[in-house]
Amino acid sequence: MGIESSCDETAVAIVSDQKEIFSNIIFTQLEEHKPYGGVVPEIAARSHINHLNALVRQALAQAKVGFDDLSAIAVTSGPGLIGGVMVGLMTAKAIAYARNIPLISVNHLEGHALSVRLTEDVSFPYMLLLISGGHCQLLVVKGVGQYERLGTTIDDAAGEAFDKTAKILGLDYPGGPAIEIAALNGDSMRFKFPRPLKGKPGSNFSFSGLKTAVLRARDKLCDEQDGRLKRQDVCDLAASFQAALTDAILDRVKNSLEYYLEHYGSNKNIFVVAGGVAANSSIKEKLSSLCYQYDFELKAPPMKLCTDNGAMIAWVGIEKYKDELFSDLDIGAVARWPLDPNAPPAIGAGVKA
Ligand code: KG4
Ligand code: ZN
Repeated sequence: MGIESSCDETAVAIVSDQKEIFSNIIFTQLEEHKPYGGVVPEIAARSHINHLNALVRQALAQAKVGFDDLSAIAVTSGPGLIGGVMVGLMTAKAIAYARNIPLISVNHLEGHALSVRLTEDVSFPYMLLLISGGHCQLLVVKGVGQYERLGTTIDDAAGEAFDKTAKILGLDYPGGPAIEIAALNGDSMRFKFPRPLKGKPGSNFSFSGLKTAVLRARDKLCDEQDGRLKRQDVCDLAASFQAALTDAILDRVKNSLEYYLEHYGSNKNIFVVAGGVAANSSIKEKLSSLCYQYDFELKAPPMKLCTDNGAMIAWVGIEKYKDELFSDLDIGAVARWPLDPNAPPAIGAGVKA
């Protein structure tokens, strides 16, 4: 069983070592956070408490198994919103203790990093772009627990940039899908927004300057039009923002592909993209042609495994189970837990690194 509660999804799944997903139940708290335009940690933690027990029962029922059939329990113990992580961890500890089965503590980011191995035959090493609401990183996945981080965001995550920009434009939360839809009717050339860090060495990301540029452009238009934005303005701002963000991401990815080829290159290079922002067709399309250009095969877990879910946590549990990487019942929840502890800290990255 895998339990996930580090952000705004409460999720429980039951997966076998034969890669069968018996159940993968996800309760999204989207509606509870919508009025605030982003995830409110206190609301998230309380919602996890309210839903987790029922989801555990539901996951067992759908998989047609009981607690006695579980061989181990895997749980996200960080990084994430600490209140929510504690709810999942306490529940997992209780099950492990009561049923006398191993507890396996899982790094949420490792869940995203290894999920592609649950559905596809992908061996180590491979390149990973993790783009979600909370994370934006480029990593070489060398093995279970072995990562080289090539880049991370120095301010906002990519999804966060979509969400904050959507708020600026008066669009709904979550901002990613809302901006993508608005951009379909927009002119991406109308506003010349900055491409942060483009042309600079390395693979770190930065998005806050871009968000501020959108804010300034909106305010300027509002001033010129009696405080009102026209529908076409919103679409053009959304399209220009999306084009700038995509361009900036692509530049960072290009540097990482070159680094990978130099240090890990083989005759079969794999590039995996995961996280909620991977749902964006425009980003995916451009990534696909870049990968083609550098002779990488692009892979993405199915959307249900790309966003936060319990199956990816259960899968890391299975990968760790083989090496008996079990945890003591006194482990604590952690807000910050980098996959590559040797990576230089990115200034301003805070708990997201
Ligand atoms: O992975 P995820 O479901 O949750 C975590 O953050 O862990 O990612 C959610 C993020 C949100 O910021 C949302 O705006 C973004 O993914 N997102 C998108 C799209 N769909 C979701 N961003 C851009 N384009 C999309 N189509
Ligand atoms: Zn996530």
